[in-house]
This record gives sequence, C-alpha cells and structure tokens, in this order.
Amino acid sequence: MSNKLKIGVFGYGVVGSGLAHVLKNSKGLDASIVKVCVRDGEKERELDSAVLTTKPDDILSDPEINVVAELIDDADAAYQIVKTALQNGKHVVSANKKMLAYHIEELIQLQWQHKVSFVYEASACGSIPIIRNLEEYYDNDLLQSVSGILNGSSNYILTKIFNDNLDYDVALKQAQDLGFAESDPTSDVDGFDTLYKLIILTVHGFGLFVHPDQVFNFGISNLSPKDIELASQKGYKIRLLGKVTKVNGNHVNLLVAPKFVKPEEHAFTVESHYNGVLIQGNFYDNQFMYGKGAGAHPTGSAVLSDITALAYDYKYEYKKLKYYGGLQYTNDMEVEVYLRYTNKDDLALFNFSDIKESLTGKDFNYVIGTLNLSDLIKIRQQIQGRDVFLAYLGDE
Ligand SMILES: NC(=O)c1ccc[n+]([C@@H]2O[C@H](COP(=O)([O-])OP(=O)(O)OC[C@H]3O[C@@H](n4cnc5c(N)ncnc54)[C@H](OP(=O)(O)O)[C@@H]3O)[C@@H](O)[C@H]2O)c1
Repeated sequence: MSNKLKIGVFGYGVVGSGLAHVLKNSKGLDASIVKVCVRDGEKERELDSAVLTTKPDDILSDPEINVVAELIDDADAAYQIVKTALQNGKHVVSANKKMLAYHIEELIQLQWQHKVSFVYEASACGSIPIIRNLEEYYDNDLLQSVSGILNGSSNYILTKIFNDNLDYDVALKQAQDLGFAESDPTSDVDGFDTLYKLIILTVHGFGLFVHPDQVFNFGISNLSPKDIELASQKGYKIRLLGKVTKVNGNHVNLLVAPKFVKPEEHAFTVESHYNGVLIQGNFYDNQFMYGKGAGAHPTGSAVLSDITALAYDYKYEYKKLKYYGGLQYTNDMEVEVYLRYTNKDDLALFNFSDIKESLTGKDFNYVIGTLNLSDLIKIRQQIQGRDVFLAYLGDE
C-alpha cells in the first residue's frame, strides 16, 4: 500500500485500547488511528474527543480512512461493519471469531470482489500467528490435524481447579476479574469460542468451510469434583481442546470437548490463560506453538501485526481452498469418551459400541467406552441441561 495507513477503529474495549497502546509503541510503522467508533459516547475513556464517534458512517464513508479495524463484541453488528467496509474499498482487520465462523465464506468472496485485504490473525489464539503459519508454511496436503487449547479463559479456570483446588465458580470469577473471560463467559466455558476459532483454522489449514451447527462441541460448565478426582487418580489433567483432523484421506472432522490429557501430551504443559496449538503432519510429525491467547496487549499486537502486513499489501492466499479442495466434512468417527451421569435414563441416551470401564455408585456413575461422533451429535439437544459430563481420551 503506497498511502499512509489511516485507521478507523470500531470498539475501544480490551482489544481496541490494547491496539492503541501497542501502536503508540511501534514507531516504525507509518500508521495512525484517525477515528474510533464506540457504542456508548458518554463513557469515560482516555481518548481525544475529536477522534471519538458513535456513528459508523464517520469511518465507513470517510475516504481518508483506508483501514478499518473491527474490534467490537457484537458479532451481528461486526458483520454489517466488515461487509460495508469491504464494499467501500477499505482493507479490514478483525478479531471477531464468532462473526467469522458464520460469515467467513461470504466475506472472502467480498474481499476478492472489491480487491481489498481482509486479515484476522487476532481472531484465533491471540498472539500466536497460527493463521499465517497455516497459510504460508503448511500450505500443502501433508497436514493431518491441528489441535489444542484455543481458549485462554477455560484453560485458566481448569488450571486453577487442578493446581489450586479452586471451585469452578471461584475460578470463573477470577478469570472474569482478570479480563480473560469474554463479556459473555458461556462462549468460553461451553466451547463455542474454541469452535469458532477451529472453524477459522479449518479454512486455512484444510480449505473447508464448516458451519458451527455441523460440529459436536461440549464445554466444561458441568465439570464436577468427581471428574477432577478420577482424572487426577489416573494421572491426567482435564483441558478443553479443539481438534480438526483429516479422516480417511478425503474427509475432515472437527471436535470441541474436554479431554483427559496425559502427562506426555503437549496440552499437559499449557497452564493458566495460555494457548497451545499442535500441528501434526506427514513427514514433519509434530510441531507445537505456544503463547498468550487473549488480553489487551497480546491481542492488540496480533491486530497490529495484521495492520503492518497491510503496509506491504499482504493478503491471505487461501491456497488450500484454491489448490487442495475436495475435502468433505464427516462426523462418522469413533471416539473414546468418559461419561459421568446421574440418572440411568441419561446413560441410555448414549449409544456406546464398547465399554471398557464403568462404575455405578451412590453418588458417582461413569462409563469409559467408545461411541460414534455421529450418534453423539444427534443427542446434543437432549443432553443439554442434564447433569452429565463428557471428556474424550483419544490423542490430542
Ligand atoms: N478480549 C480478548 O482478549 C480477545 C482476544 C481475541 C479476540 N477478541 C475479540 O475481539 C473483539 C473485541 O473484544 P473485547 O474483549 O475488546 O470486547 P470489549 O472489551 O467488551 O469491548 C467491546 C467494544 O466494542 C464496542 N462496541 C460494541 N458494539 C458496538 C457497535 N455496534 N458499534 C461500535 N462499537 C461497539 C464497545 O463500545 P462501548 O465501550 O461504548 O461499550 C466496546 O468499546 C471480540 O470480537 C472478541 O471476541 C478478544
């Protein structure tokens, strides 16, 4: 891009203010924030009032602004902002994984149509440059799986429960107080945040668009002390993982669920609000990326890195989409799971093909066995609200 970067920012919360701070400390980049659009014009903020607006058009229709940084916490409004910005010929940087998970296919088409860049490294794993790595380095068909801890707040909660014996509610409150949890924590603890990120990684890693409804995702909100005790007795930790795997050569599966993590697995070492992503491929074997997945400065620096990339006309090439297409989505995959349940009726919902271990007690019932993910996804509405907890035991 030959012109100076004139940035219009939407949102001045954790990430928006983090971006402003890291930009101030990046003297080498010829870029400045010329407008910031927020929801509430009355809120106290450390911002020059001449820069502040509550009218999206002050950014979207300003010909001087060539870059829009969309950093708001409302996915529907974000979709309208990003769409209009691309249509108006502006380059767009976004951190909004939920908006991307639902609209990425359309937005990619729009950026091509309007010959602008649309980059969103901060949307998946904060400061870990996983999207650009999948784009630039793992851009062939050797990739077999991408998995890991993609959500910092659920990992913080699980670390506090396992390491410090904190109750779930206390650990969740700490995560919120420290700003690790999103404005709505259900997205973090019920696995949706992980799912949205996994969908974005699947586009760049495997060239496949997956709708969130196609994927079985289960979170940690039903975790009980009994689950923790059993996992600990076996020498495991419980962590919330997302995994995209190539199945039988031409299919891809996505799964988001807690996992019993073994000491020799990479995820075992990922503590607190950190993220860790394992990339597994033919010939190059395992590679692991680790870093801060959330927070003002880690996320703000990922947004800045995208803005810097715009200065040299960077665009995702979507090589997997263009050259290695043809993969299809499947849930037809056997998984080994731990299921804790309270009522026998709950157990009857699960179609186990094989049971390896089970216990029926006064206040603790569980089964470890194998079932097919396609059966599990059929009962996901039915198991909502029941006192059951699921974790898988397969490879990370
Ligand atoms: N927090 C993280 O560590 C993190 C990490 C990775 C990605 N993200 C993603 O980054 C985005 C922002 O997250 P955040 O944590 O910074 O959220 P946040 O702290 O809750 O801030 C949200 C900001 O968006 C503004 N806003 C909301 N709706 C708006 C609208 N329609 N028009 C203009 N401004 C609007 C709010 O304005 P007011 O200030 O007036 O309320 C606020 O400034 C989300 O998509 C999130 O998923 C966050």
